[in-house]
Parts: sequence; structure tokens; C-alpha cells
Amino acid sequence: MKRVLVTGGAGSIGSYVCEYLIQRGHEVMALDNGPSLKVEHLFDSGRFKFVQDSILVKDVVERLVDQADICIHLAAIADPKRYVTEPLNVLNVNLKGSLGLLDHCSRRGVKFVFASTSEVLGKNPKVPWNEEADRVLGPPNINRWCYSTGKALIEHYCHAYGQQEKLPFVIMRFFNVYGPRCDDLGQGRVIPIFLEKFLKGEPVVVHGDGQQTRCFTFIEDATQAVVELALNEAALGQCFNIGSDRETSILELAQTMKRVGGFANELVFKPHLEVFGKSYEDIPRRIPDVSRIKRVIGWEATTGLEDGLKRTIDFYRQP
Ligand SMILES: NC(=O)c1ccc[n+]([C@@H]2O[C@H](COP(=O)([O-])OP(=O)(O)OC[C@H]3O[C@@H](n4cnc5c(N)ncnc54)[C@H](O)[C@@H]3O)[C@@H](O)[C@H]2O)c1
Repeated sequence: MKRVLVTGGAGSIGSYVCEYLIQRGHEVMALDNGPSLKVEHLFDSGRFKFVQDSILVKDVVERLVDQADICIHLAAIADPKRYVTEPLNVLNVNLKGSLGLLDHCSRRGVKFVFASTSEVLGKNPKVPWNEEADRVLGPPNINRWCYSTGKALIEHYCHAYGQQEKLPFVIMRFFNVYGPRCDDLGQGRVIPIFLEKFLKGEPVVVHGDGQQTRCFTFIEDATQAVVELALNEAALGQCFNIGSDRETSILELAQTMKRVGGFANELVFKPHLEVFGKSYEDIPRRIPDVSRIKRVIGWEATTGLEDGLKRTIDFYRQP
């Protein structure tokens, strides 16, 4: 039995990770400054504690790290709209907050399992991306890169603390995780945004020509990967892509959701510039090379897109 601190434990991925750890007999402390809605079903478990506070509060972070064997650090501002409207908050939470946590984990020898992102590779055109691929980014006056840069800097710190302070760490780079309960409809990422429109019977807006692609990863698959990487000693000191390697264009996603959900909405197209302004830049293709995670811990995403979408749509259709 491990004592695991899950920051961002009330978030999309975090709530599943907490639930799965508890099912496997571990003790979980979730630290999150957001609402507890997604973890309230865990409150009766004798092995779950929820602390509603920020990772920027030093004494709270230190008290919780002191009680943990492992810290799975998922807390972040991870909503693309906010990279553009609140770059300062994004940098403060994702960079300063992570650094305080990482520093104290290092002092206490607590394993640090860090949620990074496929975004660190920016617009590298050579897909699929393995974990050693180059980072290709735009300039710092384009706000959208602040998320990528903050996450990449914490990756650097993990390697540096690992090398100089012997910190045990694992880095995870997620590729578009989705699923039931994950997001508030209409918020943040493409699937909940499309789904809100589908459910309201309104036109579904596809950005650009819809030919940009992503690899969508079902939440249950991603959760298993996180917990296995956190517990398996073979993963130590390395970075891993967590994703499905099935490439799906955004237009195909919209069409598949329409078909699977039996919707009749119209699909309409809108230029990126009109949607985000000039401080945002979309990435044409993002595909993970998942050979490392397969080789080291034997994990691969097994849920098909149609199955995952159907389960997601069914969840949000419930009254
Ligand atoms: N979901 C994805 O597809 C995806 C892709 C790439 C990377 N990631 C990374 O994985 C992690 C989890 O993502 P998610 O999809 O669950 O996002 P999420 O937004 O659902 O969860 C993040 C959680 O962090 C919490 N949080 C934000 N600021 C905080 C603070 N100052 N103190 C404490 N808690 C704070 C939020 O309240 C939220 O519950 C994030 O670090 C994100 O950057 C996710």
C-alpha cells in the first residue's frame, strides 16, 4: 500500500486516478483548488482525503508531501482558452506551483510523477513524435506557447533534480484524453465543446478546414497508464507518451460523434483567426510514438474511438 498525493485530484484525469488507486488498495490525498464534484463519490472511502487548496500554498504542499510516498502531479491550468487570456496565471500555477512541489518532493525523496503534455513538442512537423523528438515552438510573444514552455521547463527540472539530487521521477506526456465525467460541456477541449452543441441541436463549429488531426485517448486507458507508471520501478527517470496512436481529423471526429450519437446537427467551418485571434496557433498533426511505454510497462490504449465516444455521449445524455 502506497500513500499517494494526487494534485489536481478533482480534475478530469485526477478524479479517475484517485478512484483507481483507491480500488487498488492505496491511500490517496487529493489536493485541488477546484470544486470537489468529480470526487464526492470517494468521500466515504476510508482511504481518501480531499484538501481544497492551491499548489501555490507552500505550507499545505509541504504538509501533504511529508505524508506521501508518491506525488502524482496533475494540477495545472490546462484550458487552451486560458493560455491566451491569462498567461500570467498559467505560468504561475504550471511553473511556480510545480516547482515548489518538485523542490519539496526532492528534499523528502518522494517520487514525483509529472503530467506533461504533447504540447511540449509544439509544431514539430515530423510525426509520430517519440519522447526524444525536437521541440519546435513559436515566439514568446505568442501566448499559446506559455503552456508548452512551462511544462517543458518542469520536465527539465525533473531531469536536473534527478541527476543532481537523485530525485525519483517519471514524466508523462498526455495526448488528448477524453471520456465520461471528464469535462464540463462546452468547456476547454474539442470533444466537450462539440458535444454541447450536438446535445443542444445547434450547428457544430469546426475550426479551419477540420483536417488538423489529434489522437484521442480514452480516460480509462490513460488512468491505467498513469497508475502503472507511478508504481512500476522500471519507469523511473524516463518520459513516456500516453496516447492512442490512431490519428483522427477534427472533421472526422465531428462526423463520428454525429453518427455514433445519432445527431442531425449541421457542421460549419470557421477560420482559426476568427476563433482565437492572432495569439493562438493550431497544430496540424499530433501523433505519439508509443513504443517506449509498450516496451517498459506493457501498456497500450485499447478502447476504440467509436466505443469511447459512445460511452462519453451516453454519460452526458443522462438527465
Ligand atoms: N486531458 C488531456 O488531454 C491532457 C493533455 C495533456 C496534458 N494534460 C495534463 O494533465 C493534467 C491533468 O489534466 P486534466 O485534463 O485532468 O485537466 P483538468 O483541468 O481537468 O484538471 C486539472 C486540475 O488542476 C486543478 N488546479 C488548477 N490550478 C490549481 C492550483 N493552483 N492548485 C491546485 N489545483 C489546481 C484544477 O482545479 C483541476 O481540477 C494537467 O497537468 C494537464 O496539463 C492533460
